[in-house]
Amino acid sequence: MAYETLIVEIEDEVALIRLNRPEALNALNSKLLGELAEALTAADANDAVRCIVLTGSEKAFAAGADIKEMSEKGFVDMFGEDFFTPETEAMLRVRKPIIAAVAGYALGGGCELAMICDFIICADNAKFGQPEINLGVVAGIGGTQRLTRFVGKSKSMDMHLTGRFMDAAEAERSGLVSRVVPVAKLVPEALSAARKIAEKSALTVKVVKECVNRSYETTLREGLLFERRVFHALFATEDQKEGMTAFLEKRQPQFRDR
Ligand code: CAA
Repeated sequence: MAYETLIVEIEDEVALIRLNRPEALNALNSKLLGELAEALTAADANDAVRCIVLTGSEKAFAAGADIKEMSEKGFVDMFGEDFFTPETEAMLRVRKPIIAAVAGYALGGGCELAMICDFIICADNAKFGQPEINLGVVAGIGGTQRLTRFVGKSKSMDMHLTGRFMDAAEAERSGLVSRVVPVAKLVPEALSAARKIAEKSALTVKVVKECVNRSYETTLREGLLFERRVFHALFATEDQKEGMTAFLEKRQPQFRDR
């Protein structure tokens, strides 16, 4: 499937989706987000894909929602189209892991898009920010909620109120990203993490994603109960038997995703 604003490659069971609007630093317009929701949904449904990597260019992961496209809209337009909600909801329905590989700017909607992914690996030139305040608005696709959960209230308030950018070292220190690598190694590092995930049982991978995401949606008591029940449930799978038998027989497991 050919896209106007994305480049999609599938190799070794990993889909690499590259945002491709270089003239606008990958600003998220409705075309791009619509195509991205479509590409992610297709990768999720494709048996040849076990993990997804989402990246941009070396200069920008994405410099935010497209300001040109938004600037003339009124409340009725934004409310009527429920601005970017259908697209982000579609991304959140993806059950396979999505790794964000971020180089350069991840601002506004770009930072929010990275945070919708399951984890973020960034390049040493990455800059994260929620500068919507400079445009007279607030983050609109989850920034005030997700950034606060990921880096805490003080840093989140600082970022949203001053509009300042966070560099890669601060992002790692704050827990926003899982790894920082030199820019030239970003995509190889993300692909290697994705391939490592692709070796696991796809069934267990989906369960892990559900469990960790649950911790952002519910109380600790309910989250612990959810985890315990799915842990028990996994003992009904062939992959649990295979994983534990392989360990005892000192060999690599051959998972069958069942
Ligand atoms: N929307 C539309 N176009 C954008 C854009 C955006 N968010 N960000 C950059 N561009 C365009 C610029 O207009 C410019 O296009 P032209 O050459 O046609 O003028 C091109 O990309 C290159 O950008 P710059 O010349 O500005 O590049 P720079 O290196 O000097 O600066 C930057 C880079 C600091 C990222 C700067 O472009 C910038 O501040 N961008 C806007 C960042 C921003 O405010 N993002 C939040 C958007 S609102 C949002 O995202 C709401 C939400 O939560 C949903």
